[in-house]
Amino acid sequence: MLVDSFGRTATDLRVSLTDRCNLRCTYCMPPEGLDWLPKPELLTADEIIRLVRIGVERLGITEVRFTGGEPLLRRELVEIVTASAALNPRPQLSVTTNGIGLARLAGPLADAGLDRVNVSLDTLDRDTFVRLSHRDRLSDVLAGLAAADAAGLRPVKVNAVLMRGVNEDEAVPLLRYCLDQGYELRFIEQMPLDAQHGWQRENMITADEILGALKGAFDLTEDDPRERGSAPAELFLVDGGPRRVGVIGSVTRPFCGACDRVRITADGQVRNCLFATEESDLRTALRAGASDDDLVERWRAAVRGKKAGHGIDDPTFLQPSRPMSAIGG
Ligand code: 5AD
Ligand code: SF4
Repeated sequence: MLVDSFGRTATDLRVSLTDRCNLRCTYCMPPEGLDWLPKPELLTADEIIRLVRIGVERLGITEVRFTGGEPLLRRELVEIVTASAALNPRPQLSVTTNGIGLARLAGPLADAGLDRVNVSLDTLDRDTFVRLSHRDRLSDVLAGLAAADAAGLRPVKVNAVLMRGVNEDEAVPLLRYCLDQGYELRFIEQMPLDAQHGWQRENMITADEILGALKGAFDLTEDDPRERGSAPAELFLVDGGPRRVGVIGSVTRPFCGACDRVRITADGQVRNCLFATEESDLRTALRAGASDDDLVERWRAAVRGKKAGHGIDDPTFLQPSRPMSAIGG
């Protein structure tokens, strides 16, 4: 198992398949994009599949989530999902995507064994979408969501980040839309993970503010916290249930103590935390012919050194040098 020095066990593996993206969400990247990783530095599909296999068969990983950048841009995604679904024990498989391309890929991904998707949707307004992501693609995202639902990738989960002066008034319309469509919405507090280092606490819409706005329009009751487990979302029943909404107070209500995640970047580095300042290089070992045993040992050591928490509230907090798009959500 992947156990750290605080006794937490990592069972949820997030694998970034590419650092590239077809959107430019302001909380993530500058409009001009970033210097993408050169192709030889990316793990190949075979290397990714090998690491997922080792994670599942040797290290107790039970859930694998493919992220980016935008994972649907990775041509071998269906192949990677197929191989992951063939593992024993079979892990839960999901993709975190911006939804562009999902209209075409939802069916093939479901056939390959994908269980679920998380789709980012921060606004229902076309102009706001363009302002927020620098691309006019809202209709593609909505079509992707519908296709995921039709393909049975349920419950379709939606992630929304609210920003002051941009989409802060959309908590209620986003929830109405998701309830109507049968999607599970989660609001996520904006974290300091943008490549431009533009995050400012004052511009973050807090979990309390989101709940305040929602309570003006819906009756929210706390769902059984025992069901929360290590999931970061605080879940609320909407108007008595069974429909729910989640609020993830990544900054103001950190859940680091219950964290069960470990990440592999698109270039094959283990990150034991989104906010880690150090990474452990598995790619070099992989390419130097390391055995499975050797990779297991390196991976274990990387998780052992995980810090207690992200410390965004500490005066000494340092934003990681790599942005979210290179780390994986
Ligand atoms: N803060 C909070 N959430 C973020 N995401 C991307 N960048 C940030 C950030 N700075 C979200 C995306 C997506 C998931 C991968 O993480 O909206 O849903
Ligand atoms: Fe792309 Fe996701 Fe970053 Fe938006 S948040 S630019 S969709 S990687």
